[in-house]
Amino acid sequence: MIGFFDSGFGGLTVLKRVVQKLPEYNYLYLGDNARAPYGGRSQETVYEYTIQAANFLFKKGCRLVIIACNTVSSGALRRIQQEFLPVAYPDRKVIGVIRPSAEELVDGGCRKIGILATEGVVKSKIYTEEFEKLDPSARIFYQACPLLVPIIEAGKQDEEHSDVVVSEYLDSLFAQEVEIDTILLSCTHYPILYKAFRRHTPPHVKIITQGPIIADKLRDYLARHPETEERLSREGTRAFFFTDFSERFNRLASVFYGEPIQSMPATLGSSD
Ligand code: DGL
Repeated sequence: MIGFFDSGFGGLTVLKRVVQKLPEYNYLYLGDNARAPYGGRSQETVYEYTIQAANFLFKKGCRLVIIACNTVSSGALRRIQQEFLPVAYPDRKVIGVIRPSAEELVDGGCRKIGILATEGVVKSKIYTEEFEKLDPSARIFYQACPLLVPIIEAGKQDEEHSDVVVSEYLDSLFAQEVEIDTILLSCTHYPILYKAFRRHTPPHVKIITQGPIIADKLRDYLARHPETEERLSREGTRAFFFTDFSERFNRLASVFYGEPIQSMPATLGSSD
């Protein structure tokens, strides 16, 4: 089984693209929406929450976990790979969304890149680090968008004020560098506001979302790692776990995933 983890609903935008490309595998999604957003939390807290999530997903039988969240990928992935996995689950793998996204942009010849992300990702400067390894001549400009995840998790993406907020964040980004050629929506929630981003961005500027990138990169990863791929179950099942339910839950989940989903409750914590 392949596990997906996000702070809430955002990772569903990635899972949706992955199952379109690789439908044969079994997938288990975990959204910690009770504690979302993670974007303003400390790296230590994000790391603790991620260990709980990883324990949950591995105990359910996942061999491979995709951290479908930039905030978690920037704040916890390296420690999970270097400190937690070797001790707790040496035969399992956890991969994130930052490195694959940076690789894709470098391969696509992007030069002046605007990164729209949560405060946690912006503070970490993780994209600068990755681009320095891949193409030090690429220039990176960050804009934190702290209001967007709460707006999206509240299901208010279609309201007029969300359009205003998007346009203000874009103005601040372009005020840093007017010749930005590519914008990466570096938060898995933001594709829900894609149309608003497009409306307020000059037409020659590319806007990239991460779902299609992760789907391609996962296919390549599995081809390069047959020892993991051979152990994945393939009945085409999908299971969705969330840490909180509310009235708007089903509507929101289907907005992100594109079809109705049957969800189950998850409890994360020391007794996982
Ligand atoms: N979807 C997450 C990301 O990609 C962020 C959500 C949050 O702030 O919880 O960064």
